[in-house]
Parts: sequence; C-alpha cells; structure tokens
Amino acid sequence: MKRYVVANLKSNKTAPELTAWFADFGVPPQADDTEVIIAPSFTLLALLQADRAVGLQMGAQDVSSFPLGAYTGAVAAQQLADFGVRYCIVGHSERRQYFHETDADVAKKITELLSLEITPILCLDEPYIASQAQLLSDEQRAAVIIAYEPKAAIGSGRSISVGHVKEVSAVTKKDFPTAPILYGGSVDETNCEEFLLVTNGVLVATAALDGKEFARLVAKCAAH
Ligand code: PGA
Repeated sequence: MKRYVVANLKSNKTAPELTAWFADFGVPPQADDTEVIIAPSFTLLALLQADRAVGLQMGAQDVSSFPLGAYTGAVAAQQLADFGVRYCIVGHSERRQYFHETDADVAKKITELLSLEITPILCLDEPYIASQAQLLSDEQRAAVIIAYEPKAAIGSGRSISVGHVKEVSAVTKKDFPTAPILYGGSVDETNCEEFLLVTNGVLVATAALDGKEFARLVAKCAAH
C-alpha cells in the first residue's frame, strides 16, 4: 500500500511566504510508494499548481457540501478538480469545533469529492469514528483515506503513543477495512518513523510550517 505524507498548512502563509517555503523545501525524494501532499489555503493553490512538476500532490483543506451554484463563499468540488486538486481534507476537528460541522455535513462533502474523483482525507477522532462511518456507503468507505487525529494531540507538541495509534487503527479498520490509515497530531521529524510502523502515513501541520523541517521529515518517511 502507498504511504502518504500530508502537510496541512491551515490558515497560515501569504503568497510570498509560501514561495519562500517552496525554496526551503526543495525537490522531494522520488519514492514511488510515497505520496507527498501539500494542502494550503484555497488562495494559494495556484502557486502550488506551478510547483506540481517537482513531485508534490495538490490538496485542499475543505470543500463545499454543495455542488456549483448559488452558495456564497463556498468552493465546490468541481472548482477544486478544475484546479488539479487530487486530495481534500474533510472533517478536521477544527472544522467540527469552530465551524460546527457535523458527521452529516462531512458525509455530503465526501459525496461531492468522490463525484469528481478527488480523494477525501477523512479526519477522525475516537468519539466519531463509528457515527461518521454509519453515514457512508461501503463504496465511500473504501474510497477515502482516514487520518486518525486525537484532538488533544493536535498542535500540543504531545503526540500519543504508537501503541494507542495501533489500537485505534484496528478499531477503525472494522468500519474502514481497506482504507489507508494515517496518524496526525504533533508528528515531527523525530517521531514520524515510529508512526509509520503502524500506519500508512502521517498528517502534519506545525512541523510542516518550516519548509526545511518538512523536507527532512519527508526524506525520513520516504527512506523508511
Ligand atoms: P499538528 O496538527 O501537526 O500541529 O499537531 C495536525 C493537524 O491538525 O492535522
């Protein structure tokens, strides 16, 4: 199975800052089995489009739960697809907390993305693994990438134990038997390899903000 290294830049970076980030990051190691995905803000996707040739996959951090149409402020899956976006994070705990997204909203977003052949990276914490799975068809469950993201570990500098990630992955596999399972929550260049022992990849935010640091992390993951 492929390995995924995802950078979630959240609401960080201006265009000049992301340009500098690319210069720091350089060219990722070419490892056929490792997909490196960068998810910046919508406004920065054009910059990434120009850089795709160097082996980065374009990701988005969110998508509308509606198709194209009169939905002010929303970015539809079709608009992401036209741009060359191949992956999209959905259901991140920050979206659930600050934007009050529900399992039902997330399920609609997954339907929109899959209709455009964009792979959803579905973020799940333990309290809603089962409830989210219930709202998805078998086909949808097989088409997503799961990112297990325990809320307490996000942005805290305190990742959880590899043993616990392994346990939760086993539970998640009951609902998502064939989906790749990533771990996210204070992953950095010092601990990324441990998580790769029990997952199919990592989702990184804080440690992705510095291009050089993220390049070192990617190199470790690709060599693992
Ligand atoms: P972190 O965030 O790497 O800063 O802990 C992970 C995430 O929110 O996806």
